[in-house]
Amino acid sequence: MGRLEGRTAVVTGGASGIGRATVERFLAEGATVESWDLHVHAAPGATTRVVDVTDEAQVAAGFAAARTAHGGVDAVVHAAGIASGGPVHLLDEAEWARVISVNLTGTFLVDKHAAALMLEQAARFGIDGAQRGSIVNLASVEGLIGTEGGSAYNASKGGVVILTKNLAIDYGRRGIRVNAICPGFIDTPLLAGVFGLPGMEEVFADIARAHQFGRLGRAEEIASVALFLVSDDASFVTGTAIPVDGGYIAGHRHGVSDLLGLG
Ligand SMILES: NC(=O)c1ccc[n+]([C@@H]2O[C@H](COP(=O)([O-])OP(=O)(O)OC[C@H]3O[C@@H](n4cnc5c(N)ncnc54)[C@H](O)[C@@H]3O)[C@@H](O)[C@H]2O)c1
Repeated sequence: MGRLEGRTAVVTGGASGIGRATVERFLAEGATVESWDLHVHAAPGATTRVVDVTDEAQVAAGFAAARTAHGGVDAVVHAAGIASGGPVHLLDEAEWARVISVNLTGTFLVDKHAAALMLEQAARFGIDGAQRGSIVNLASVEGLIGTEGGSAYNASKGGVVILTKNLAIDYGRRGIRVNAICPGFIDTPLLAGVFGLPGMEEVFADIARAHQFGRLGRAEEIASVALFLVSDDASFVTGTAIPVDGGYIAGHRHGVSDLLGLG
């Protein structure tokens, strides 16, 4: 029996990368899954919807449709996001606003309507009944520490981390758990877009080396933590921002371990 048998999950950003891997993992674990993205996409076994997370009417309509189709929503994994920014002296206000809109305001809107539905479910079923609710936001290690050229993106993800903690406090007494995942650098189309500049190959290799396993993460390695967080195994876990980063923020290697034969 799958770990999410009988559960319904909404995954935003379900067409690509971490969202897509989460859709696939949740389906494999027996969940009924809604995959939402900006554009029409295929997600075999899931219900797909076009939902722009920056548009409140679309987000509200998405949750209303999910409620009608499945009777409620147990889990939301909010993975829709974009990467952009740059040092602030090179960043125009419109680009700053675009990143904050998708990554931070999008999180606010998805969490707002997810929480409203889960509160209604808590009233209907009782907090120890079915359909209590768990929300997982995709933040980033770049919401926990600074990185080169990080500005709008890092600020948006730092905002996601603290918003997550506030939701956990506001809704804990209704049995709703809210957590964030802070991935390291994960091999997805988003990353390829950021580092598409000429001459970035060595930088890219260095970023991979900065993870303690010497490689980038895989989308499936984030999906498995999302699975844990929405499952009953995480019944006492809320308000966390969990780095899933191959040790990227644990500290730095400068070569001493190589000299010690640990390279
Ligand atoms: N890949 C990484 O290295 C990495 C690291 C840390 C955090 N993250 C975060 O994880 C999440 C998923 O990233 P990914 O690497 O899978 O990216 P991705 O580009 O592969 O997928 C993101 C998806 O979000 C969708 N999306 C973008 N704007 C949207 C909007 N307004 N409404 C609805 N959908 C929208 C895109 O169409 C895309 O399908 C993002 O929040 C990202 O910031 C990624």
